[in-house]
Amino acid sequence: MNGRRLNLSLMIALVLLCGLTLVVRQNLERPNFEFFPDMYRSVASKSFAANPVFADARTLQQPVAGTIPRQHRSLGYGPSEEDAIRAGEELANPFASDNRRETRRGAELYQSFCSHCHGGGGNGDGAVGLHGFPTPPSLLATEAKDLPDGQIFHIITFGQKNMPPHAIQIEPEDRWRIVLHVRSQQQQSEEEMLSPTLPLEEAMEQ
Ligand code: HEC
Repeated sequence: MNGRRLNLSLMIALVLLCGLTLVVRQNLERPNFEFFPDMYRSVASKSFAANPVFADARTLQQPVAGTIPRQHRSLGYGPSEEDAIRAGEELANPFASDNRRETRRGAELYQSFCSHCHGGGGNGDGAVGLHGFPTPPSLLATEAKDLPDGQIFHIITFGQKNMPPHAIQIEPEDRWRIVLHVRSQQQQSEEEMLSPTLPLEEAMEQ
């Protein structure tokens, strides 16, 4: 068979094949021949498919009542105001107030998680407040100073009114470190008020 005849017969075969595909109607509803059908049709139930095995006919079952995630540590407090007050009475900071290292770490965490609302110095002048979000009260004010450590821990955990909760972002130990930093800022501002940087006469002249 020379090259020309081969080309011609291939061409004819191609035309016939194209014609045949048009004539033989496909059934798109049914799959074609399946190699290894297990690859397509899993023996395991699909998560959201109905299931005759269970009483509620669902494959995906609810966790048993009282199930908690692994490594979950329950704080034993809810988000209510009463629980915030109870936390204030019952909880104590595990870190000593003069622990410089943890306070410094608290300052870093504060900058990341609090300063955009409460301001770098805690005055409530963070950038978020400049763009329409309700301005938080100063953390250096008497109200915040009077809050017990445990209540500030609770506020960080569950939020308070317009302040969102931070339990997901900040580990409990880190919340306590932030409390250390807030306390240190409050103490610093008190010291500054008691001893102005300028001598009294100079301050009065200005
Ligand atoms: C999205 C902004 C926002 C962020 C972020 C935020 N706060 Fe607040 N915070 C507020 C607002 C607003 C209030 C006032 C809530 C209210 O009306 O009681 C508040 C209240 C507080 C109070 C109570 C003050 C008082 O005098 O009652 C404390 C303490 C506090 N925040 C600490 C923190 C700490 C610590 C962080 C960081 C972990 C933080 N907040 C992060 C907005 C924020």
